[in-house]
Amino acid sequence: MAAHILVVCIWFVAVVPAANAASARPVAAEKGMVVTAQHLASQVGVDILRRGGNAIDAAVAVGYALAVVYPAAGNLGGGGFMTVRFADGRKTFLDFRERAPQAARRDMYLDKEGAVVKGLSTTGWLAVGVPGTVSGLEFARKKYGTMTRAMLIQPAIKLAEDGFTLEQGDVDMLASATEDFKRFPATGKIFLSKGQPFVAGQRLTQPDLADTLRLIRKLGADGFYRGKTAAAIVRAVRAGGGIIDQEDLHRYKTHELSPLECDYRGYHVISAPPPSSGGVAICEMLNILEGYPLRDLGWGSAQALHYEIEAMRHAYVDRNSLLGDPDFSSIPVRRLIDKTYAAKIRDTIKPDKAGFSVDIKPGVAPHEGSNTTHFSIIDNAGNAVSMTYTLNDWFGAKVVASGTGVLMNDEMDDFTPNPGAIDTSGSIQGDANAVAPGKAPRSSMSPTIITKEGKPVLILGTPGGSRIITTVLQAILNVVDFRMNVQEAVDAPRIHNQWLPDVTKIEPYALSPDTRRILEGMGYRFEDSEPANHVAAIMVGAPSLGGTPIARNRFYGANDPRTGTGLALGY
Ligand code: GLY
Repeated sequence: MAAHILVVCIWFVAVVPAANAASARPVAAEKGMVVTAQHLASQVGVDILRRGGNAIDAAVAVGYALAVVYPAAGNLGGGGFMTVRFADGRKTFLDFRERAPQAARRDMYLDKEGAVVKGLSTTGWLAVGVPGTVSGLEFARKKYGTMTRAMLIQPAIKLAEDGFTLEQGDVDMLASATEDFKRFPATGKIFLSKGQPFVAGQRLTQPDLADTLRLIRKLGADGFYRGKTAAAIVRAVRAGGGIIDQEDLHRYKTHELSPLECDYRGYHVISAPPPSSGGVAICEMLNILEGYPLRDLGWGSAQALHYEIEAMRHAYVDRNSLLGDPDFSSIPVRRLIDKTYAAKIRDTIKPDKAGFSVDIKPGVAPHEGSNTTHFSIIDNAGNAVSMTYTLNDWFGAKVVASGTGVLMNDEMDDFTPNPGAIDTSGSIQGDANAVAPGKAPRSSMSPTIITKEGKPVLILGTPGGSRIITTVLQAILNVVDFRMNVQEAVDAPRIHNQWLPDVTKIEPYALSPDTRRILEGMGYRFEDSEPANHVAAIMVGAPSLGGTPIARNRFYGANDPRTGTGLALGY
């Protein structure tokens, strides 16, 4: 009996005590934490931290590993963003977003009548933007990592060469693209088992991808952008009607930028600048919401939701109309994240009435792929990495250049395909995000880090296309305003409004029936949506803001239950 009590006591000091909500407890650890959408990649990241690597080393190793074990979104053939906050307070942002090839044209996805040709920007080689991931990972490693390329890429090579056992979550993801895999033989050869979908328990081996990773291990980014891999990509592009050439691959460069920063109720937000629209829109919404007593109104109250939806509506008008690649058009970032601008928007929001999107500005609904992946990492010293990268849609354009094992993105679909189209009001749509040679398509990816008094408190991000922005917003509100612990903040049902269409999407249980009635009475329309978006978040110091640390643990990881493959893992 005494032994039994002792065991129970040990168990209690090792985990976070009961939270206020019925969420699982966040994963607590003392020295480092990695949260990714695939458990094997989380293990790779923790192994690197244990061996003395810093958070950037771990991010590079995780980036390569996810390309193997999470092929739907992890990638070498896509692009992304990395927000870094160093333990000494420095911050940086790496933009390795795909760029349009030099032969890209504004009207390349339109037919003779000026109508968008369905599928042209989403499937097949014409959909592919010049990939940035390998450049970004190698840039990060060289400038900020401490370990050799061989050490960081080896776990991915092993996973590709030896294979890994597919679990149900992995198989479900592969099954979502079976028909596409059948359509493209080089892709089907990898992701189908003798022409049929894989089942749980089978192993997925990727020998060609292992060879490509070996070339990168030997030559760095040149192992991808030059030589055998580049030649295979260009050959496949030509055969498949695409436009990327050798010169596009040679000239790809990662851009190092200053992150987008703002303050919210005493917390400092470090997020993604253009060509992401994420940081700007998150800061604009936070600035608007700072003027309302959300905490007093209460999570899920009709009044708090009213203000949140209106903040979303206003931020998305600006996002959709004004944001794009800053190298190609001037973007009024300072104005959009100015607190006086937010105050002016608040003046237009009626306390008891929904706004109407077309009253703010007429336009057309934006579209973009929603299948991306995010991971968050912190090391023992307190260096924090928030990284989101993507192929755009699950498995990107679904094409692989034979012999490379590399799935290619369909990021060209994130451009506005028909800028200049006149909408019903006579407005010209989407010029800031029109296709142009060398340009980055607008993104929503929002890898974010939040600090307080010079110390990191929250690292987070998510996939989800245009829903990324409202998902990150709600996780921040849940933590800062509603004082949820990090797992509760990730789990809580979400809503999403993006200006157009003028409807608010709601996950199951996001609204009680009477809350919904109140909001409908104010003029809102709702549409059900499946739970989506895998948030990967880490809270630093305690499981919730102002909370008590558990034993010696400093890091609290939250893996979103909405994806069946992810894991928060610390040590
Ligand atoms: N392709 C999704 C994004 O960049 O936001």
